[in-house]
Amino acid sequence: MQNSTSSPVGQPLAATGVAGGSGAMFDGIAARYDLMNRLMTFGIDQRWRRRTVDALQAAPGARILDLATGTGDLALMVADRIPQCTVVGLDPSAGMLAVGREKVAARGLSGRVELVQGDACQLPFADQSFDGITMGYGIRNVVDRPRALAEMARVLKPGARVAILETSEPRGLLGLGAKLHMRVVVPLLGGLLSGAPREYRYLQRSTAAFPSPEDFAKLIESSGLKMQELITLLAGASCIHVASPLSRLGLASAK
Ligand SMILES: C[S@@+](CC[C@H](N)C(=O)[O-])C[C@H]1O[C@@H](n2cnc3c(N)ncnc32)[C@H](O)[C@@H]1O
Repeated sequence: MQNSTSSPVGQPLAATGVAGGSGAMFDGIAARYDLMNRLMTFGIDQRWRRRTVDALQAAPGARILDLATGTGDLALMVADRIPQCTVVGLDPSAGMLAVGREKVAARGLSGRVELVQGDACQLPFADQSFDGITMGYGIRNVVDRPRALAEMARVLKPGARVAILETSEPRGLLGLGAKLHMRVVVPLLGGLLSGAPREYRYLQRSTAAFPSPEDFAKLIESSGLKMQELITLLAGASCIHVASPLSRLGLASAK
C-alpha cells in the first residue's frame, strides 16, 4: 500500500527508483496504447474520462487544455461533452500525438481540437488563458509535479477548474481484486500483447510509486491551487482530483 513515507509529497519519480516516464518511452507503446487501455480496463477507462470532463463543469464554448494528452482520448471526450468548445492537447511524445492527430482528423474535429508537442512543466500559453484543464493518467509521469501544478494554476482563468484523473493503489477488501489486476494482470498482459514489457512494468511501478490521494491533494494545495473535490473510483483504483486556482478564488467570488 502506498503511503507518505515511501513516496513523500512532491518526491520526483526518479527519486523513488522508478525511471522512465518521458515522452520517448511512450513512443514505444503508442501504436497499441488505445487497444491495451480498452482490454486492460474492460472499457471502464472511457467512463472515467467522461467523469473527468464533467467535473470541470465548463460552459459551452469553453477553451480547454488537456495535458499529457497522449493519443487524445481525453481531448476527444472534452470535444464530445462540452458543446462548441475548443481543445488544446499537449504531450511530449511525438508517437502518441501522431496517433492522436489521425483520430482527430478521422472524427472531423481538426477545427476544434489541436494537438501540440510540449511539457506540462513549461506551458507555452499565456496567463489565465484556459477555462478548464484535464489531465488523464499523466501527472504520475511528470518528474517536477509541483512545477506542473503551478503552471496549471497560472494558465487557468479565475474560478476555472482542473480535473486530474490518475490511477492509485486500490484499498480495502473490494480493492483486492483491482490491486491484483493492476499488479499482475496489467504488466503481464500489457507486456505480452504490446510487445513492450518494460513499458508496462513501468506503468505498474509508477502507479505504486505515486502519492496517496490525500498526499497528492496536499501537493495540489501547496502549488497555487485549492482542492474542490476528490472523486474516488472503483475502491480507489483511480481518483479525480478537482481544483481551482488559489489566489483568484477570492477575487472571483468577490465580483
Ligand atoms: C499513460 S499516457 C496518458 C494519455 C492520455 N491522457 C490518456 O488518458 O490515455 C501518459 C502520457 O504522459 C505523457 N507525459 C510524460 N511526461 C510528460 C510531461 N512532462 N508533460 C506532459 N505529458 C507528459 C506521455 O508522453 C504520455 O503520452
